[in-house]
Amino acid sequence: MSKALPSLLVLLFGLLICTAANAGNKQDGIAYGRYLATLGDCAICHTRPGSSGQTFAGGYPLHAYFGTVYSTNITPDRVTGIGSWTKDQFYRALHDGIAADGHRLYPAFPYAYFTALPRADSDALYAYLRTIKPVRYRPPPNKLIFPTNIRLGMTIWDWLFLDKSPFHADPAHSAAWNRGKWLVDVPGHCGGCHTAKAFFFSDKPGGYLRGETVDGWYAPDLTGAQPNGLGPWTAADIETYLKTGSNRFGRVVGAMKDVVRESTSRMSDADRAAIATYLKSLPAGRSPQIAKPDAKSMATGRTVFVERCSVCHAADTADYPALKNNSVVVQRDPATLLRVILQGASSIAVPGENVGYSMPAFPTLSNADLAAVATFVRNSWGNSAGDVTPKQAGSVRTQLRALN
Ligand code: HEC
Ligand code: HEC
Ligand code: HEC
Repeated sequence: MSKALPSLLVLLFGLLICTAANAGNKQDGIAYGRYLATLGDCAICHTRPGSSGQTFAGGYPLHAYFGTVYSTNITPDRVTGIGSWTKDQFYRALHDGIAADGHRLYPAFPYAYFTALPRADSDALYAYLRTIKPVRYRPPPNKLIFPTNIRLGMTIWDWLFLDKSPFHADPAHSAAWNRGKWLVDVPGHCGGCHTAKAFFFSDKPGGYLRGETVDGWYAPDLTGAQPNGLGPWTAADIETYLKTGSNRFGRVVGAMKDVVRESTSRMSDADRAAIATYLKSLPAGRSPQIAKPDAKSMATGRTVFVERCSVCHAADTADYPALKNNSVVVQRDPATLLRVILQGASSIAVPGENVGYSMPAFPTLSNADLAAVATFVRNSWGNSAGDVTPKQAGSVRTQLRALN
């Protein structure tokens, strides 16, 4: 008995330590899962816009030419969320794009990127999502112009476009470069917006991070292209932009606002640096030839600028973004520029940064004046980004009406 007691104590003590360590691992798993959810910005797409939207309860509309797909409720509610899903079913959704009941998910859900998340990462995300408060909310039904059996068509899409191979680190590059590539290509799904798209959200060959227009915003070229690409940006410029939403080339105004607020501003400095390292290694894609702007359009544009814009943008103060070399202004697709003039803009709240002034909207400008002022800012102060036509202005205006 006297001999057995110490070993019993050792055993008990050991058990205690094991349980504590297990609880620790579990906590670590949840914290890691939360960080992965930040990297993958699950909250942006799975939260209904507006104040009534509850985080992760779904109902966010994703628009495309074939209709609108609403994101689902991924809180642990057993009726309307994924509370009854097993870890295996969750992994199958991320890896294969198949829901618990076996239906094919639309690639508006970026499983084509998440497919390369290792099983352990999927389990950590699952563990984290189990800790969210269950919310009973059913998102609106999808509005698709295709036949309703399109989900079956997704089998063909997956067969054509879904590459389920795991992420392979490239030993020819540094650890930071590999981490950056993983962040961009897997959880960050940056290509979801920045890669040119072909049929139904599939990536266009040769279009990797070369820029694409999504929901009326132009997500720019992230290769080393000049002038509208990241050619002129240093790695530090990229890190500052991802952390604060602004740098010497301008401020974030469009779809990237959510990404910065929910994801990149909350990443570790090391992860932002890794992304910058990777992006700076991408060779420059080809930039289109830029024609000289139309002189008449420039003259009209100057008048509109003096009347409507110069009170803020001509003043040489740090309160207003400079439009010289501004990356929103000089992109090859003027969608974001036109949208900012029509809708106005306001800064995002990022921890540790001041919220700047807002820009008013100019919806009453005619398409001709809108195009002219856009042409003027794209071709003044050394900017050289080509014409914007009244037709382009009109189509952005029409698109905005459809989105709102
Ligand atoms: C770009 C927007 C977007 C992002 C980012 C996104 N999702 Fe989704 N997700 C969707 C949409 C849209 C659906 C619904 C697809 C459908 O109905 O076919 C969906 C469906 C799902 C489903 C299937 C649920 C069900 O009930 O069928 C799961 C699980 C899921 N997402 C988890 C995640 C996780 C975890 C993340 C972050 C790592 C994430 N999503 C990020 C848009 C997104
Ligand atoms: C009352 C002041 C004011 C007026 C007038 C104004 N702006 Fe702005 N503009 C701003 C502010 C402030 C921002 C930054 C908003 C933010 O932080 O997102 C801005 C942002 C912009 C941006 C985006 C720049 C970037 O880096 O994100 C463009 C482009 C722009 N303005 C063009 C114009 C044009 C063209 C006009 C005239 C049609 C105009 N602005 C009139 C204050 C103004
Ligand atoms: C939801 C779509 C979306 C996703 C996802 C997205 N971006 Fe963006 N990004 C945009 C848009 C749109 C812009 C244009 C600027 C804006 O919105 O103000 C942009 C701008 C940028 C810019 C500035 C480029 C320039 O020339 O001005 C960088 C850098 C960038 N994104 C990096 C990333 C990285 C890295 C990721 C992945 C971690 C990412 N983006 C994911 C939509 C997206």
